[in-house]
Amino acid sequence: MTLHRSLFLVLGALTIAVTPPGASAQEPLFERDVLPVLTKQCLGCHGGLRQKGGLDMRTMPLLLKGGKHGPAAKPGDADTSLLWQRIASDEMPPGETKLSAAEKALIKQWITKGLRTETKKDEDAHLTPGVKHDPKEVAAAIDKHIQQRLTALKLDAAPGSDDVEFLRRVTLDLNGCVPTAQEAAAFLDSKAPDKRAQLIDKLLASPRFGEQLGRTWREWICPPELPSDMNGGAQPHKQAFAFGDWIGKQITKGATWDKIVRDILTVDGQIKDNPHVIFYSLVGEGGKATPDGSARATASFFLGVQMQCAQCHDDPYRNWAQNEFWALAAFFGRTQGDFNTVTDGKAPPNMSKRGPKLPVAKGAEIVIPPSAFKNSGKAVQAAFLGSKSIDLAVEKPLRPVLADWVTAKENPYFAKAFANRTWFYFFARGLVNPVDDLRELNPPSHPGLLKMLGNEFAASGFDVKHLVRSICNSETYQRTSRASVKQDRQAIAAQTAAFGRMPVRVMTADVLYDSLRQVYGDPKLDLRADDAKGAAAMGQAAQIADPYIEFLRRFGTNEDDATDFTHGIPQMLTMINHPRLLSGSKALDAFRKTNPTPEHTVEWLYLSTLARRPSASEREAAAKYLANSQNSYVGVLWMLVNRSEFLFVR
Ligand code: HEC
Ligand code: HEC
Repeated sequence: MTLHRSLFLVLGALTIAVTPPGASAQEPLFERDVLPVLTKQCLGCHGGLRQKGGLDMRTMPLLLKGGKHGPAAKPGDADTSLLWQRIASDEMPPGETKLSAAEKALIKQWITKGLRTETKKDEDAHLTPGVKHDPKEVAAAIDKHIQQRLTALKLDAAPGSDDVEFLRRVTLDLNGCVPTAQEAAAFLDSKAPDKRAQLIDKLLASPRFGEQLGRTWREWICPPELPSDMNGGAQPHKQAFAFGDWIGKQITKGATWDKIVRDILTVDGQIKDNPHVIFYSLVGEGGKATPDGSARATASFFLGVQMQCAQCHDDPYRNWAQNEFWALAAFFGRTQGDFNTVTDGKAPPNMSKRGPKLPVAKGAEIVIPPSAFKNSGKAVQAAFLGSKSIDLAVEKPLRPVLADWVTAKENPYFAKAFANRTWFYFFARGLVNPVDDLRELNPPSHPGLLKMLGNEFAASGFDVKHLVRSICNSETYQRTSRASVKQDRQAIAAQTAAFGRMPVRVMTADVLYDSLRQVYGDPKLDLRADDAKGAAAMGQAAQIADPYIEFLRRFGTNEDDATDFTHGIPQMLTMINHPRLLSGSKALDAFRKTNPTPEHTVEWLYLSTLARRPSASEREAAAKYLANSQNSYVGVLWMLVNRSEFLFVR
């Protein structure tokens, strides 16, 4: 990831957070309203990197301490506040861009109203911490949290989903594939009052649940373009898949999340025995493990905190110091690895092969390398986030010590980080956004809910299925994604952001591929072009030898935003133009062997793809089409898989 891309992501994400639904009507708060403006306009010069005029405004205490001329703001009195004076006179920011009138008004109002911060009252979690509850109870508590917030924002919740919508959504989410015609008919026709809960249990018991979770984590962890090895330039596609499969198999075996993370953090040896060895080189550099890459990834994926901007200088916007970053990296100081192995040496590798000679790190220290720009050559002692350095015997392996702390029930981040990511997976939006930016000054939209989910996940011994079962049984998850005709765009966005309605998401490449393989009855489904002309028609350039990998590459979605529909042109061209999708389906052939009527066949096609039966007008249209096309059922199939109703998770 280039610096530009990450800067863009950070700023993009921070500015999106500026106005949550209903914010304008409320009094401005530091975290929610003011800090995003300061971040965009001021913290580059008054933050972790630079403190012009002696002023750092990243936190309230720093702002009140102020710079050379004293406190930057005085509660209730804008005119004597330095912060307001400099903004009002357009002295600050010094460059071309100035604050907008709305931003100025916001800051003035915030000072006048007494510098309010997000009230730190401990939000009720609604369930006793330290005890595992029945998933139904957890689901009810989720709904209570969501309803409270909707009420506060004066928003209504959307109605519940119908059986078709629920069946298709939950099957795609938990098993990563559309339901078969048989499964769909069985569920729709069932009269069992608890059939939804039963279906959730069935999907969670299938090995496909683990598989889907494993490949989702693979997508999150793998960089968009995999690193390539030094010699042949080959990318470790197969190894990355094996890593996702490994996570999936652990889940299927009943491994808890702390166990899986511990295995990843402490793995040692060869890839043939340990597919998760690849983790370190995926998050490192040039196909090698690096202490900074391992620290960044551990922070982001397992602790839900973004440390990447504190590698080379104190984070200009967040309250992370460069020292804290390297104290975490120090646990990986002796770790060496590539695509095939990971081991810890006795002494940290010398990280400056070229350039200035650095002192050698001792014990649990790391020496900041020259690539870090500031403080290179400084030795930093290993320490857990938020604590001072810890006592470590020189010869003791360091990664297990870190793993103990990361996966402890008392760890302030671990359970919440997983709960927040899991929430993001289902709702396309975290309770904290970005998903890996948990910190005091970026509070969750539903603090009590995140606390409750974290408590519950820890109390269950980090049982992934318990958390997922609880979420999927909630009314919140089971609401419709359909907007009412009376709603305008803004109302829909506000309702969705407050989780009063399900978002519409794009199927990920993995899920789409599996769904197509199933409806075409073709495990090796190949949608690559067989010549250059065909490739051009589908907007394809160079192709990869493996049809599955090529499919994933081509149909890759935006993993940061599942509701982002802008990726589709080459995908649409492939779906519409590839001859394979019109050349027959083994699954359909097998069904036709039972000698069904044409109406029955059309119904089968609808159930297999859209998990519903055709309407009267759809039956009629299909009959007309079939009469004109020598009963080309595969033509009907082709039309169905090209509908947005098929391609989206609704
Ligand atoms: C490009 C760098 C830059 C940016 C961006 C910037 N400032 Fe400054 N700021 C400075 C410099 C340089 C000084 C010290 C010189 C001076 O006082 O004019 C300063 C001084 C200040 C001071 C006086 C501190 C003291 O105690 O003397 C305040 C208040 C201030 N800035 C507020 C802001 C605010 C609010 C923003 C954003 C809206 C902002 N600045 C953006 C460069 C910047
Ligand atoms: C690989 C090292 C490295 C990383 C990682 C890094 N930076 Fe920097 N950053 C630098 C260097 C070098 C400068 C230039 C410092 C200077 O000129 O004083 C800089 C400068 C900046 C500046 C000041 C730019 C200006 O206009 O003067 C900002 C803001 C900044 N970085 C933000 C970030 C953010 C946000 C991240 C995380 C997404 C980040 N940096 C990660 C090396 C890094």
